[in-house]
Amino acid sequence: MIVTTKKLFEAAYGKYAIGAYNINNMEQAMGLFQGCIDSQAPFIIQISKGARDYTNKLMLEGMIRAANEVFPDAIFAVHLDHGDEEACYDCIASGFYSSVMIDASHESYEKNIKITKRIVDAAHAKGIVVEAELGQLGGVEEHVSVSEEKAKLTNPDQAKDFVDRTGCDSLAVAIGTSHGAFKFSGSQSLHFDVLEQIQKKLPGFPLVMHGSSSVPQDEVERINNAGGKILGAKGVDATQFKKAALLGVTKINIDTDGRLVWTRVHREFFRDHPEEFDLRKPGQTFMKEYAKFIVEKNNYLGSAGQLGAVRKLMS
Ligand code: G3H
Ligand code: 13P
Ligand code: ZN
Repeated sequence: MIVTTKKLFEAAYGKYAIGAYNINNMEQAMGLFQGCIDSQAPFIIQISKGARDYTNKLMLEGMIRAANEVFPDAIFAVHLDHGDEEACYDCIASGFYSSVMIDASHESYEKNIKITKRIVDAAHAKGIVVEAELGQLGGVEEHVSVSEEKAKLTNPDQAKDFVDRTGCDSLAVAIGTSHGAFKFSGSQSLHFDVLEQIQKKLPGFPLVMHGSSSVPQDEVERINNAGGKILGAKGVDATQFKKAALLGVTKINIDTDGRLVWTRVHREFFRDHPEEFDLRKPGQTFMKEYAKFIVEKNNYLGSAGQLGAVRKLMS
């Protein structure tokens, strides 16, 4: 059942975080739905602008509609990840999306507000909710000074002003995470102090953590042992997800880790079966492994086992 992101946030706020998983193909969709049913978790399925452009955007929508029929017990929202204005308007008009993210965080503060407000007005008119972003996500390098690093993080006072002026429904905050497989150097980690201040300014307001893949070292090792060359990769400690949830983080975005599962399965398959060329064989392994991976993530997020409670809330 496709539901509004807002309801999922109401169910989760302050208790656990909803996993927001990016998909690009059928195998990811099947693994994601299976994993969320196996762990009895509500979830958010994310389609990025890049995923919409990968093939025809209608293919992904069609797959999600089909998955909804194949897994009638699933409860999930459909979200546009990192949209620009054009993608947001397109998704709002499509009537298929539960929520859109307008990412104007690279613009000046005032321009970010202006753009976000335009999207909020258009989306709310259609009952669609909006995630916005404030602050700069980026790899935190060890040589960067503390003041330089803080300048990129979300400013808690600005966060309150931004939400008040845009009317957005959730806010992606920069607290030290970054996209991809190379998030930290040395002993850097998340800035829970900043998160705590943001929550104080915005009590009860859903916050979003992008760039939350854990980049498991054993996964990277397996990839490299099967011919990969991913060196110095590092991610977010998944045991911190629940702490973040208690501080208002209600949606946690995970994409890279799923790509690592795909890479490991396919590299190992072709290393161990050089004579094979049937795409369905590694595809089947991937769907199973991806479902297992989703179960593990949902356990860390605390969303595992929440499906029954969410269903009750919806009825
Ligand atoms: O935050 C970005 C997501 O990982 C989506 O990546 O734009 O390559 O689809 P993508
Ligand atoms: P990762 O690259 O850490 O998986 O982050 C994904 C993300 O933030 C999608 O919006
Ligand atoms: Zn992101």
